[in-house]
Amino acid sequence: MFSSFADWTIQSLIAFDVPDPTTGRRGAPNLTGNHAPNKNAFTMETVFSGIQPSGELHLGNYLGAVRNWVALQDTHTCFFCIVDYHGITQPYQPDEVSRFVHEMAIALLACGLDPDRCTLFVQSAVPEHTELAWALASVTPHGELGRMTQFKDKAEHHPDNINAGLFMYPVLQAADILLYGATRVPVGEDQRQHLELAREIVRRFNARFGETFLEPQPLLSTTPRILGLDGQAKMSKSLGNTIGLAESDSTIWEKLRTAATDPARARRTDPGNPLVCNIYTLHRFFSDEERQEVVRTGCTTAGIGCIDCKKMLLEGVTRDLGAIRTRAQMLRQDPARVERVLADGAFRARIIARATMERVRHRMGIGRPFAAS
Ligand code: TRP
Repeated sequence: MFSSFADWTIQSLIAFDVPDPTTGRRGAPNLTGNHAPNKNAFTMETVFSGIQPSGELHLGNYLGAVRNWVALQDTHTCFFCIVDYHGITQPYQPDEVSRFVHEMAIALLACGLDPDRCTLFVQSAVPEHTELAWALASVTPHGELGRMTQFKDKAEHHPDNINAGLFMYPVLQAADILLYGATRVPVGEDQRQHLELAREIVRRFNARFGETFLEPQPLLSTTPRILGLDGQAKMSKSLGNTIGLAESDSTIWEKLRTAATDPARARRTDPGNPLVCNIYTLHRFFSDEERQEVVRTGCTTAGIGCIDCKKMLLEGVTRDLGAIRTRAQMLRQDPARVERVLADGAFRARIIARATMERVRHRMGIGRPFAAS
């Protein structure tokens, strides 16, 4: 472990080939992207992931993404980013953004992101993200962007708001990842295509301007798909089928009580199939093996009803989300601490981001090397 933050910063500068401020000399080019304050800093891979400040972290985000991020902190150099510049591509209220960002930071910290073991920051606090996105846009094929299913979906659902930002969204996402030399990106199935595009951008950039970036790989989670309360589609805020992490036990119970189960169980006496029931999927996260067995047997033999099954689920949900809620409550009482975490994160991120951007401009022949700063 590095002994101090200053130490960490120096290691970062070396890793990212930043000129020594006193001599102007650069170290050997280092494309490993390893630079974290960790004892294995030079062998660990770098992870980057982002989440939009949507105003609510829900069970789907938690089980599908954030829980994995928490675990990755032990084995990877991690950057986690609240991507507010991605958020503005969809309709939003300007006066809500800063509160949503703050709330998202609280939720992520409450779930277990640890500022001593990861860099947590807000995208707009590091202007190099948008700067690199513009540079990358010049090597991004227009046709590829038009083929992105997420773009086509959003364009189809919101024909009145097909803005160029929505189109450029995957380029900004590529910039997020490439700024930090991340080689591992934990994403869900829906983001795979964006990551493939990021790889294409890397290949094109390197071919045109020389080896600069590493191709990021997806880190696909083994987490089963978490459906919404309707049991129809992925849990998602826009579909209104979520359980929010901050919701009270009584609200959560009200939502669980009426949540969809295996449709085969129309009556209490109809047996069901746990493997097609979203409630059972949730048991796999919140109940121990013994209870899961009780639920499996009870469901397939109609020995228990769906309400019994849901009551058993509620216990684990209340226990785990209760702990997260308690931590969030403490953080909510200390907004200055949360802002300090984000400012620290942005400071650290920016050291790397600046160095990368300097290299990018150099490779692209942009900017005057001795211009006044
Ligand atoms: N597009 C991602 C999502 O909606 C969020 C995101 C932005 C992201 N930048 C990223 C994810 C970089 C991974 C890496 O889920």
